[in-house]
Amino acid sequence: MLELIALGLAGIHFGFPLLYYWYVKNKWLHRPWNIKKDKNHKPKITVIVPTYNEAELIEMRLDNIVMQDYPKNKLEVIVVDSASIDETAEIVERWISRNSINIRLLREPERKGKLHALNIALRHVDSDAKIVIFTDADAYWEPKALSRAVSYFADPKVGAVTGNIFYEGGGTLGEDVYRGYYNTLRVAESKIHSTPVHNGPLIAIRASLLRKMGLPNFPGSDDSAFGSLLAFAGYRAIQVDDLIVKEPARNQARRKLRRAQHLLLNFLKTKRYAKERGFYTKSQFERIWKVEWWLHVVNPWFLLISVIFLVISAIRNSIVALVLLGVGLTLSIIKTYRIWILQQLYLLIGALRNLRSKEVVWSK
Ligand code: GDD
Ligand code: MN
Repeated sequence: MLELIALGLAGIHFGFPLLYYWYVKNKWLHRPWNIKKDKNHKPKITVIVPTYNEAELIEMRLDNIVMQDYPKNKLEVIVVDSASIDETAEIVERWISRNSINIRLLREPERKGKLHALNIALRHVDSDAKIVIFTDADAYWEPKALSRAVSYFADPKVGAVTGNIFYEGGGTLGEDVYRGYYNTLRVAESKIHSTPVHNGPLIAIRASLLRKMGLPNFPGSDDSAFGSLLAFAGYRAIQVDDLIVKEPARNQARRKLRRAQHLLLNFLKTKRYAKERGFYTKSQFERIWKVEWWLHVVNPWFLLISVIFLVISAIRNSIVALVLLGVGLTLSIIKTYRIWILQQLYLLIGALRNLRSKEVVWSK
């Protein structure tokens, strides 16, 4: 009996996301955007780079930003550093003295986390700026990334744009597999309406909306939550596939755990936040949110309970349970399966860790 329940739970755990993936991929991925984009749309924009101990990478990051094919007189860059204990600030200052673009360095006297730093930077954004772009110090943008992101904002329905993300060198824990699956999912969701998950290497946001709504003020809301909030407010918050960003794979296990924690916080908090603030309208996004909420918050527990039931049955000498556990283990020769299981583990441990610490300030 327990075996049957376990099998049912596992069936839902694996079946539902597969079905969802299959559905959005086949029904939506290749549809038109239904967005009027314009590649000649070149408003004033501000790029914000938050840094904490990025001495190794920050120079490359700034070089990569100025190398974008975007008019320099329309571009403002703000680096906000939170009391790095390495040379980050000095390196940025030297870089500024060598380059003649509109860039400034803000220095926080104390480290209070990325979200706090972003809020400081926002107070300094040029009042003419039409789009604000957040980017991580370890990101890399393809040369046309910026202008491509901006082109979507020609349509007033668009509130936020993020890019397809890839890991340099494929990654050590199969990030390439993970990304392939998620890029497809996120772009397809974006075709329907919007995606609730946005990628730290490049998040472009319509400045007027940011000014009106402000960044959500709960822990973990520094990357995806504003996109979700905009989508709830009825704007399109999209991941687009002609925009490619890269990120090195560093300290993956730990980072993936924190990311899982932050994703969970997004799914647990943003909807209520949108309603409380009066930024909620019913749209197609509601359905996407419900599925993604379920996949992140509930679905991992189905797997855990299923395994627990099988183990209990196996201890009670159930051959069926033993065979099922064996099959589950054997499947881990398939990479995609392994990555999936790992991701479920991160979500489970992340949920527990959120009870203790929300990782507002994190170490690398
Ligand atoms: N100013 C400032 N202050 N910047 C910070 C702080 C801080 O306290 N902590 C981290 N940063 C900066 C880093 O220097 C980097 O540029 C960026 O924030 C992202 O941090 P990483 O350490 O590179 O973390 P990640 O690659 O795992 O980040 C991903 O997950 C985060 C949420 O957990 C990205 O998607 C981030 O955008 C996201 O915030
Ligand atoms: Mn990073």
